[in-house]
Amino acid sequence: MGPFGDVLAGWLPANDDPVRPLVALSSIGLDGYPDVRHVLLSEFDDSGFSFHTDSRSRKIAELTALPRASFTVAWPELGRQLTVAGDTEPADEASLARVYAKRSPYLQVLAQLNDPAFAQLPLDDRLTRWAAFTASHEPGSLTPPETWVGILLRPRRVTLWHGRPDTASQRTEYTREADGSWTTVTLPG
Ligand SMILES: Cc1cc2nc3c(=O)[nH]c(=O)nc-3n(C[C@H](O)[C@H](O)[C@H](O)COP(=O)(O)O)c2cc1C
Repeated sequence: MGPFGDVLAGWLPANDDPVRPLVALSSIGLDGYPDVRHVLLSEFDDSGFSFHTDSRSRKIAELTALPRASFTVAWPELGRQLTVAGDTEPADEASLARVYAKRSPYLQVLAQLNDPAFAQLPLDDRLTRWAAFTASHEPGSLTPPETWVGILLRPRRVTLWHGRPDTASQRTEYTREADGSWTTVTLPG
């Protein structure tokens, strides 16, 4: 996936690791202002980084209007920050079931029930409906709802921040050029 691939393989969990990194994913709002929220990084491979979400969400409306995004995640105790910006497109169909199956039972149910109408119910109703749904569905029996979609972010710029207590932090920044090659610069942290 570019000259940073080996480093990222050491920074990010393998795709089949159930513990997913939490990243701040930014898109451009329909009003032109940046919009940011935390999501789980579902997978990464040579094509890019994928996230999964609800097709009715604001982020999907924003990425449909302008398919550009960035995300950042830091591991301060390790002296690491990863920032990626690039172009988005729908993640491939096969990722939908694969990623859904690896989500926790709670998140699988959430993807089924998490819609605007449910959110607006009084707490008692939300508790009752959640309990009724989980009681009537075996754990592991659920398949992704129609609204479950994936986003693939193809990187254009990847910035690896390296911090350490005994000298100044620095960044290594990779930029994809028009011919597909990557240029690398070292920047202050
Ligand atoms: C710890 C944590 C993990 C989350 N993971 C996801 C996720 O993987 N996918 C997702 O769509 N939303 C996830 N969310 C919810 C989002 O932060 C956000 O509230 C939701 O997706 C709606 O965002 P939008 O209206 O900007 O589209 C997570 C929130 C938290 C706090």
